[in-house]
Parts: sequence; structure tokens; C-alpha cells
Amino acid sequence: MFNAAIIGSGIGLKHLEAINGYKSVKVKIICERDNKRAQYLKKKFPKIEIVKNENKIFKDESIKLVSIASYDNYHYEQILKCIKNNKHIIVEKPFCLNHKELKKIYQLLKRKRNIKFLSNLVLRVNDLFKNVKKIVNKNKIFYLEADYIWGRREKLFGWRSSIKNYSANLGAGIHLIDLVIWILEKKPVSVISYGNNIITKNTKFKKKSFVINIFKFPGNIIVKTTSNLAGNYNHFHELKIFEKNQTIIHNLNNSFILNKKKNITKLKGSYPDKSNRKKLIQNFIDQIKDTSINPILTLKEQFDLMSICFYADKSLRSNKEIKIKYL
Ligand SMILES: NC(=O)c1ccc[n+]([C@@H]2O[C@H](COP(=O)([O-])OP(=O)(O)OC[C@H]3O[C@@H](n4cnc5c(N)ncnc54)[C@H](O)[C@@H]3O)[C@@H](O)[C@H]2O)c1
Repeated sequence: MFNAAIIGSGIGLKHLEAINGYKSVKVKIICERDNKRAQYLKKKFPKIEIVKNENKIFKDESIKLVSIASYDNYHYEQILKCIKNNKHIIVEKPFCLNHKELKKIYQLLKRKRNIKFLSNLVLRVNDLFKNVKKIVNKNKIFYLEADYIWGRREKLFGWRSSIKNYSANLGAGIHLIDLVIWILEKKPVSVISYGNNIITKNTKFKKKSFVINIFKFPGNIIVKTTSNLAGNYNHFHELKIFEKNQTIIHNLNNSFILNKKKNITKLKGSYPDKSNRKKLIQNFIDQIKDTSINPILTLKEQFDLMSICFYADKSLRSNKEIKIKYL
């Protein structure tokens, strides 16, 4: 049995569902800085201590795991505090906001290998995408498209408009970029990105609200991903995978395979499959308890994914194709 704590209670409450009571782990503290929200939490979770100062968590030696679900701009400092105080870390994506921070976290974690680290990239446990991964012939793919269509434009005008380095790739598209590297089992070598803010230019949101990335992978496989915060659409992860003799399609209408004779077979697996999302966090707890258990996401994969997003954003600023360097 060990104790855990959560910082931030938006998506953080999903972390709570995944952690509290799983393999006897108990959430002892939730840190929430918003007064109204804190009052609500006190009533709803009378057995959990609700605090405003995160240091209460870091000073508590009974807490072995901290789940960080604060706004993106707080993740880095909170990760550093976790490392300093020897806490295992679950952190929402993106886990930091620039290369300098990425390198620092990497160096610190390399020095403290006993600390486990998970960024919450939930599509890896999605039932439909797990089936897609099983049926693709990853060595026969020549082109892949993956679109993160956010469908929640109104949410852009809260904290996402006020923090400095918010980016469509880091805040949304990252999930689909992760899905692609997981399916292909390869990392891109270069990227060129473009974007616009046509839909949001007269709003508080000053960043690009639509971004397209074109990645070259080894073997000249081409991948297009979009981070589409602006579209009038359902919240959706769209996918099209082209091989010589089959095409896999997951869109708003249907999820299916088109075979060589252009016959359609429905794809197996549920989507959006929200109930399975907690499996990523629960697998992480399993690993803390038993180090022989394989992670769903390796540490290196998580750092490589961040490098990919940072290079895509760099290309977005320069409109040039950029070679991606990994840590
Ligand atoms: N993995 C996913 O699918 C997914 C989905 C949604 C959000 N997120 C990520 O989760 C994080 C939070 O987003 P959200 O949608 O829950 O936002 P939200 O605005 O719905 O909720 C965040 C809550 O955390 C509190 N908070 C923020 N910073 C805090 C801090 N430093 N200390 C204490 N409390 C703090 C806020 O007061 C708020 O109540 C972001 O990094 C976001 O990118 C990930």
C-alpha cells in the first residue's frame, strides 16, 4: 500500500478514478488552487485532504506517487519537485514546454532511475487503435494520415489563451503523433509544418489554431498529421493508413478496412473507449509494484515524442523542413 496525490482537478479527477483504490493505492491529497473548485472537492471527497499549496504533497513522505494534471505551464517545475523528493510521476501531456526543460528532466531522471515516469498518452490503450496496430502490415505502409480534430473551440479561450508556450501540436496533436510512432514502430527523420489562425484571429487565442505536419520516416514513408483546434467537428481522432493491398480508415462515419478487391470489413474495437483510458495509469502502478512488468510507453519513447513535437513547432515558425534530432 502507498499513498498518492493529484495536482489539478479537471482531468485530474480521471486520474483519481484510475488511482484511488487500485492495488490498494490511496489518494491522500488533491491540490487545487481554485477556491470554488476546492470547496466542491471537499464536499465530494470528504476522506481526501484538499490543499492549495502543492508543497504539502512534496513534504509528505507517505506519498510515493504524484499525478500532475495542472495547466501545461506548471508541469516542468512540479516534475522537478517530484524528482527532488523521490516521487513517482504521472504527468499530463505535454510534460514540458521547451527543449531546455526536456533535456533537464531527462538528465535528472537518468540520475534517479528508481523514479518512474508516465505521460498520459491514452490512445495507446484504446480498444480500436490496439486492433488497428494488430492488423496493419507496418512494413508495407507507404502513407499514413492522422488528424486530431479537437471540436472544443470554446475551451481555447480559458488558460490555453493565457499561457506562453501553448501549442496545438503539444496540446492536442501529440496524441496522434504518438499513435503514429506506436503503429509504425519508427521515428520520423524530418518534418515540415504549416499553420493558420483564420478561425481564431479575432479571439483571445493568439497561437495557430490549425497546424499540419508532414513527416518523413525511414524508408521514405510519409505521414501527415494535423492538430486542428478550430474545426466545427466532433472531438475525434481520424486515421487513414495506406498499404499496397489494404487501406484502414477510421472516420466519423465508419471504421473499416478496404481490401484489395475494395470490399469493406468493419474494424473491430470500440471508440472512443473512454472506460479503458485508466488502464495506462493502472499499468504504471503495476510497474511501480513489480518492476518486471513491461511499460506500455517507455521513457525514451516519451522523450522522443516531445522532441518530435518541438521540431514540428520549430518548423512551423520557420516554414522549413527540419531534421529531427533526438536526445
Ligand atoms: N491526456 C488527455 O487526454 C488530456 C485531456 C484533457 C486535458 N489534458 C491535460 O491536462 C491538464 C489540465 O487540463 P484540464 O483539461 O484538466 O484543465 P481544466 O481547466 O479543466 O482543469 C484544471 C484544474 O487544475 C487546477 N490547476 C491548474 N494548475 C494548478 C496548479 N498549479 N495547482 C493546483 N491546481 C491547479 C485548475 O484550477 C483547474 O481546476 C493540461 O495539461 C491538459 O493538456 C490531457
